[in-house]
Amino acid sequence: MTRTSSHLLLLACAICAIACTDKNVKTASGNVPFNDVSPLITNIGARTSYSLDGAWKYIADPQRIGYYNYRNKPLAPGSNYFADRSSTADPTALVEYDFDLADSLAVPGDWNTQKEKLYFYEGMLWYRKKFNFEPAEGKRYFLYFGAVNYEAVVGLNGKEIGHHTGGFTPFDIEVTGKLRSGSNSLVVMVQNDRRKEAVPTDITDWWNYGGITRSVKLVEVPENFILDYSVQIRSGDGGNEIYGWVKTDGNAEGATVSIPELGKSVKADATGGFSFAAEPELWCPENPKLYDVIIETASDKVADRIGFRFVETKGKKLLLNGKEIFCKGVSIHEEQIGMGGRVTSREQCRALLDEAAAMGCNFVRLAHYPHNEDMVRLAEEMGIMVWSEIPVYWTIDWNNQGTFDNAATQLTENITRDRNRANIIIWSVANETPISEERNSFLFKLIDRAHELDGTRLVSAAMEVKDLGGGHVTVDDPLIAKTDLISFNEYMGWYWGSSRICDTTYFTFEAEKPVFISEFGAGAVAGRHGDVSARWTEEYMEDLYVRNTGMLENRVDGLVGTTPWILKDFRSTRRHLTGTQDDYNRKGLISNMGVRKSAFYVMKDWYSKK
Ligand code: GCU
Repeated sequence: MTRTSSHLLLLACAICAIACTDKNVKTASGNVPFNDVSPLITNIGARTSYSLDGAWKYIADPQRIGYYNYRNKPLAPGSNYFADRSSTADPTALVEYDFDLADSLAVPGDWNTQKEKLYFYEGMLWYRKKFNFEPAEGKRYFLYFGAVNYEAVVGLNGKEIGHHTGGFTPFDIEVTGKLRSGSNSLVVMVQNDRRKEAVPTDITDWWNYGGITRSVKLVEVPENFILDYSVQIRSGDGGNEIYGWVKTDGNAEGATVSIPELGKSVKADATGGFSFAAEPELWCPENPKLYDVIIETASDKVADRIGFRFVETKGKKLLLNGKEIFCKGVSIHEEQIGMGGRVTSREQCRALLDEAAAMGCNFVRLAHYPHNEDMVRLAEEMGIMVWSEIPVYWTIDWNNQGTFDNAATQLTENITRDRNRANIIIWSVANETPISEERNSFLFKLIDRAHELDGTRLVSAAMEVKDLGGGHVTVDDPLIAKTDLISFNEYMGWYWGSSRICDTTYFTFEAEKPVFISEFGAGAVAGRHGDVSARWTEEYMEDLYVRNTGMLENRVDGLVGTTPWILKDFRSTRRHLTGTQDDYNRKGLISNMGVRKSAFYVMKDWYSKK
């Protein structure tokens, strides 16, 4: 091809690409995140589905050439990587990518810990899964993603079909009529570059694990199917009643809600609402009772396991089923024990929760983002209560409407997925966010949204402490006017002075609300021993835990729970000390390999006496 004609061709491509931009091409902009997905189908595990987990081909694309031309304009459909073209089918064609020839990644799973060359990778990466399928008449189909961090654009058989922003909540996209009988090509463009306007923002003390980090399924439902439902308990004047609603997609007739063990079966009214008197065994850590609940319509049937309990605050008291409780907790990041990254199986969830149970916990703070559904459901079966949170963390872009919409969407998706889990008792909307007018109004709106979406749980945030001098500490945060708890992080003896200050520090609070300490702790390298005053030794960490729990036991008015930071050492790109941190935050009560540090037993002992 002569230089002139190649230039003409280039010019033609450029013109075509520019012409395409005004067709409202769905670009992965990242600046004003929008979601283009279908309504979320809940209780996915109970639906008919075909797993798409396993080996997916992938292409890392730091310059985003799979989607944009050299002028950063979107390529015309058919010439971007969603086309999934072959580089060998037509030897005369110039195709400079080919999924068939590419390497593979395991889905679910972050890419950082699967490939040495992707350890620090933050950018665009393409996944491709080929699968054979025979769609059935009269059925509807949805592609379901447990989570993709951070932004996903999904293409099926060469066409973009959906877009989702947010790395820790599920989404699904209807593909009825778009599936081919026989071979299908599913291409997912993922971007996990950190952005100021994102949620979380561009700095976090955890590893920015990118990828399709949770399972992918092709879900099959009837034409008219049960989309979502809420089944809760409330106390009426004549006793307790179970109430809620059923939402169907399509025009499914009245739904029936049955709980065989209670001998109950009722029809929902025209609005999908229902309620009936019932006195179920109440869910609690000592007796995590779950009931089989069957939701049925003329064309669909979904079974779930649901517990019933009451959670409320009364002055400084936290009550579960009317009785005072103390939340003996621990914070957990969603990272598997060992050298891997994100949790990818129920067994890995159990390994983490077994350690929490061994410490004597009846509570876990699933930090700093919604964990996978298995983790929540397993904790529920084990009688472990949950603090669930969205990654509104540190210095969020408070003035950006797109950022608020993203945070509100992640909160809505989190609550929609988990609203029927009895063990979740707290929704948290933020962690350690510096106080300002903009931050207050942003979070007030989120707290209101959480209360609107779910009036049955407490809503709070992890706030910061205020030093009043002379060992006197309080929390003076405008959020307390709206949160149900005074919950905050304190690092006496680690970021604040030496451990001895715990012996003279005392906390008081204005508001008559229960107090919950959502973080405290210190770092140590498992197996490193030395003088108690030497940082990073197990002795230092143990001494701090002894003094800290002594302070919490005696000098925190209204304390109803603690979740020390943190169960397990976890990767963070902020932890550079060679030979000590090596990309790990070392505040784990167990090492990343699961070795318990001596402070683990300080917590176990303190909780055994609560
Ligand atoms: C903060 C923050 C955590 C962080 C911890 C630490 O409190 O909430 O995400 O890991 O401190 O500094 O270890």
